[in-house]
Amino acid sequence: MKDFPHLDHIAIAVNSLEEKKQIYEDLGFNVSEHIEEVPSQMVKTCFANIEGRARIELLEPTSDESSIAKFIKSKGEGIHHLCFRVDDIEAKQKELAEKGYKFIYPGPTQGADNCLVNFIHPKSAGGVLIEISQKVKK
Ligand code: CO
Repeated sequence: MKDFPHLDHIAIAVNSLEEKKQIYEDLGFNVSEHIEEVPSQMVKTCFANIEGRARIELLEPTSDESSIAKFIKSKGEGIHHLCFRVDDIEAKQKELAEKGYKFIYPGPTQGADNCLVNFIHPKSAGGVLIEISQKVKK
């Protein structure tokens, strides 16, 4: 299959998943009951879906040291990153790094929802934190 990125989700930093998921339920999203902790990122996350049309990731910090906690402290709750799905994250990172994009992690790391992820630094992406993500086949 050709490596053809598509928008996988938009992530929102929130103080409380329990409180803010209501907004997406009111908009007609199906909010997953499944809350996943991602210890490496010090967050817990849940996904809100409108099947095949839109996907939102809600991110709540589990520690004051979490980058999400720092984000909320400096900017308040709101849009945190965009995520594009790729077929081969190592190849995509290599291709982008050769073009001069800087990544947060040296290589792909375990993300939520059974994915390998990395983030392009906002300083090299016009002020937007961009996640690239590859679904890991079970
Ligand atoms: Co994400």
